[in-house]
Amino acid sequence: METRTHMIDILVIGAGAAGIRAAIAAHEAGQKVLVIGKSIKRDAHTVLAAGGINAVLGTVDPQDSWQQHFADTFIESYNLADPRTVELMVKEAPRAIAELESYGMPFARTAEGKIDQRYFGAHKYRRTCYVGDSTGRAVLYALADRADALGITVLEHQYVTRLLVEGGVCFGALAFDINTGERTAFLAASTVLATGGHTRLWRRSSSRADENTGDGMALALRAGAQLSDMELVQFHPTGMVAPESMVGTLVTEAVRGEGGRLYNALGERFMEKYDPERMELSTRDRVALANYTEIIEGRGGPNGGIFLDISHRTKEYILQKLPRMYQQFMDAQNLDISQKPMEVAPTAHYSMGGVVVEPDTHGTPIAGLYAAGEVTSGLHGANRLGGNSLAETVVFGRRAGEAATAYAQRNPAARPANALIDAASDELSAVIRTGTEHGRALERDLREVMWEHCGVVRDERRLTTGIAKLQALAERVERMNVQPNNDDGFRSLALAMDLRAALVTSEATMRGALLRRESRGAHQRYDYPELDNALTANILISLNANGQQAVTTKPVDAVSEELHGYLAEAQIALEGRLLE
Ligand code: FUM
Repeated sequence: METRTHMIDILVIGAGAAGIRAAIAAHEAGQKVLVIGKSIKRDAHTVLAAGGINAVLGTVDPQDSWQQHFADTFIESYNLADPRTVELMVKEAPRAIAELESYGMPFARTAEGKIDQRYFGAHKYRRTCYVGDSTGRAVLYALADRADALGITVLEHQYVTRLLVEGGVCFGALAFDINTGERTAFLAASTVLATGGHTRLWRRSSSRADENTGDGMALALRAGAQLSDMELVQFHPTGMVAPESMVGTLVTEAVRGEGGRLYNALGERFMEKYDPERMELSTRDRVALANYTEIIEGRGGPNGGIFLDISHRTKEYILQKLPRMYQQFMDAQNLDISQKPMEVAPTAHYSMGGVVVEPDTHGTPIAGLYAAGEVTSGLHGANRLGGNSLAETVVFGRRAGEAATAYAQRNPAARPANALIDAASDELSAVIRTGTEHGRALERDLREVMWEHCGVVRDERRLTTGIAKLQALAERVERMNVQPNNDDGFRSLALAMDLRAALVTSEATMRGALLRRESRGAHQRYDYPELDNALTANILISLNANGQQAVTTKPVDAVSEELHGYLAEAQIALEGRLLE
């Protein structure tokens, strides 16, 4: 099949908040920029982010400070976050909020008209800005409005199969159109990867179909970048448990932020046992593990969940603060949450590991390749604070866009050798074949393996068996039937590529989880229930000369002296073992 070429200054892969923010930065600096995405415009995964975006504004709690935001974020990362990345995010988040406001984002306001801020788990002060419980949608729409006003083009349905890298330089990417199969080599001076995480690879996931499949992480790894801490996957404490089609769907932390309480089937408010001080507003890892423990110890409800209750609030209050949750439960279960509790259980929600980037520029070791948002590692360590991810997308989306611009200005777009494009196209053609395996069945089996072998609590035996099962699945993926047709266009090809990427990121996740012989934050091991200080390190994955995954560790960068004082003040017990 013929491959056409499209030359631009800056290519942004991914049309969520990080990608669009990067594109705005590049366009405003005079670059010709193009955004390509798998989904339709304004419907990237960002729209699912519900409860809020963090920034120290001090509108409700004036004693808040960026130093406290730093301490809260770093401490809850269990010392695995990159200190410089955290510092940049907390210092620059207020600017990002002001930008979003200037783009027209309709933030919830206090009676005095200031931007309101709510509690989210493990924040010392209220610093989560919000738009009801649809904050991600409002962020993406505000950015998209700005991008439209600037005339930035967003191409939909583009599936990237290869970063075009030669001699350590990225020249853009090869993509095909999911509907028509048309292939394009998007050639650019610099490329920003903003493709999201890999949490759709678990059976219970807060992601929708065909998103967060880890394809961007696999692209970067195969291009020569490193992945870090892939095993650090955040399980959100509260996902839906019914109906089957909605299992895993997010029930926002804003429910607990607005006073929601957790009960087991015996009517016990069980967070008293796990974190009597912070209760339901404890950290995500603690609440998720508490929910999981109550369920596996037999104190769950009829659908295998525990109960989240906000019915002590008035219906009027719930409709004002949590309108989407109200509608979601009415639509899915005919359940009025102002009258009855919701049954919920942990769900894979966020990739805290990802592509290794330099903190200030979000550049990778590949010249001309940048990354931003959930696809990267560095900010969250072993436990992400709710609301930090939306802040991350806009702060580092801008930084990556600016750095990609600076690189493009120094190195205008060059055309790579045709052989590089041809090889990428041939590789894609080879995936189209007649086979005996069905893609959706393979996907379901992979998700089952990740849930059973690399779920909320892990151990050596299950991880080792899990890796063997991934190898068996890889053989089946080679036998997958991939035949474009009139009904589905090239969707089976996209699924085949997703599965190939998923096998790479699943393996990286399990290898990281095997090596991390400790329990720390979201990574809990039955066989190593304590935190091991020797593992206060990032676990790196790269490909060796044979294309196999090699695992190493790297100590986390030291916290500057200035910030050390704040950490000491804010220090809380960081015991690794959360299970009693
Ligand atoms: O629960 C939530 O609304 C999720 C927020 C987040 O992951 O930051």
